[in-house]
Amino acid sequence: MAPNTLLKGFSSDKARAQRVTAAASPRGSWLDRWLETVSDLARLKERHPMLDAVIDEIDGRRIRIGDHWLYDFASCNYLGLDLDDTVIQSVLPYLEKWGTHPSWSRLLGSPVIYEEIEAKLTKLLGAEDVLALPTITHIHMSVIPILAGSGTIFLDGRAHKTIYDGCQVARHHGAKVKKFRHDDPDHLQELMSADGSKTKLICMDGVNSMTGNAPDLRQFASIARDHGALLYIDDAHGFGVIGERGSGELCDYGMRGNGIVKHFGESYENVVLVAGLSKSFSSLLAFIACPTQLKDMLKIAAPPYLYSGPSPIASLATTLAGLEVNEVRGDQLRADLHRKTNTVLTCLEKLGIATPNRSGFPIVEIPLADHQDVDEVGGYLFKRGIYATLAAYPLVPKNEVGFRIQVTAANKDDQIAHLVTVLEEVADKFTLQNPSKVARWSGG
Ligand SMILES: Cc1ncc(COP(=O)(O)O)c(C=O)c1O
Repeated sequence: MAPNTLLKGFSSDKARAQRVTAAASPRGSWLDRWLETVSDLARLKERHPMLDAVIDEIDGRRIRIGDHWLYDFASCNYLGLDLDDTVIQSVLPYLEKWGTHPSWSRLLGSPVIYEEIEAKLTKLLGAEDVLALPTITHIHMSVIPILAGSGTIFLDGRAHKTIYDGCQVARHHGAKVKKFRHDDPDHLQELMSADGSKTKLICMDGVNSMTGNAPDLRQFASIARDHGALLYIDDAHGFGVIGERGSGELCDYGMRGNGIVKHFGESYENVVLVAGLSKSFSSLLAFIACPTQLKDMLKIAAPPYLYSGPSPIASLATTLAGLEVNEVRGDQLRADLHRKTNTVLTCLEKLGIATPNRSGFPIVEIPLADHQDVDEVGGYLFKRGIYATLAAYPLVPKNEVGFRIQVTAANKDDQIAHLVTVLEEVADKFTLQNPSKVARWSGG
């Protein structure tokens, strides 16, 4: 069944609105010209049932779109804290005390909750200090240009779009940007040795949002130190999932969810860690772990601290509650997440389905042999009640087109079992990518 057929009914209002807009705009208008420039994306949005969907209702990790229920394998709430009773119940007392939103700029004043959050995060991460801002995007756009100055940024070739955009802002402020091959310390070393800048900044992801893999942080931190450079790492998907290793760990993700630096037993010398609470901790807040002197300077120099609104009180409350849950039973949640992810990865291995995931972390990309199959595969998953992230062209290169499964601790075992059945069907009906080809683009 074609995805458009599946969408019939619940998308008709949207389609009607689009037709009305098109009819009302005179030919050759700015809107027509602009729409033409983004036609690839417009076609993509039109074709895929799992893009820009309106979710009418949720029930745990089940979602309803129109009259169709699906299991949600696209959520980044890895620990399931969005559905956790302790976290949900934490909100009201804070709202009663603080109202819904502190509309001061943070430079003018912040509720004391921020102090508590920054202190708790500093302790969890084992860092010198932490500065909280609303989102990681705010941090990349404002902090990367400040740290790079007129020096050189060494940017991982597959860095997240928001890191890339932060580097573009830095370029406009006078920095040079040099790209190194994804996850290739030798190439980075080569470029850094040939560069004469006094200020050098290396920008890259921690756990990669597409492949689910993490770089060997020890190598990259060591290169940064050897060159007197700073390693700037975005661990949006690792924070809360992976953490320090030790004899008490319940699984390979490690303990405490304190992120990639601790996971590799590294220190914060020449390393700043950026991560968010909007994935594992289900709250709209992000942070940079850095020396106190840098934090104090960023309060003045980083525009969002003065010019952007703060996070809502509900998110500050759920951050604190989430950090408490993490302390008490985070490791059990991570062990459960590990077990469920392992079931999916074992199924793929048995079926000979290629995935770039070599880490066992809960992001599992499944690339297609023919990028043109993505409509049909997306439609099939949708019909069979699996909601996944479609990685379609032009959002990714044609050889990386496929779909991504994200597992969370809140996905029930029967949902995982159904996913496994559907993956078997997909492997039977469609041609998936060759494992050796996948290893090449994923740095494996
Ligand atoms: C690796 C990575 N960095 C940054 C972001 C953006 O985070 P935020 O929504 O906090 O700006 C995302 C969002 O998905 C991400 O995956």
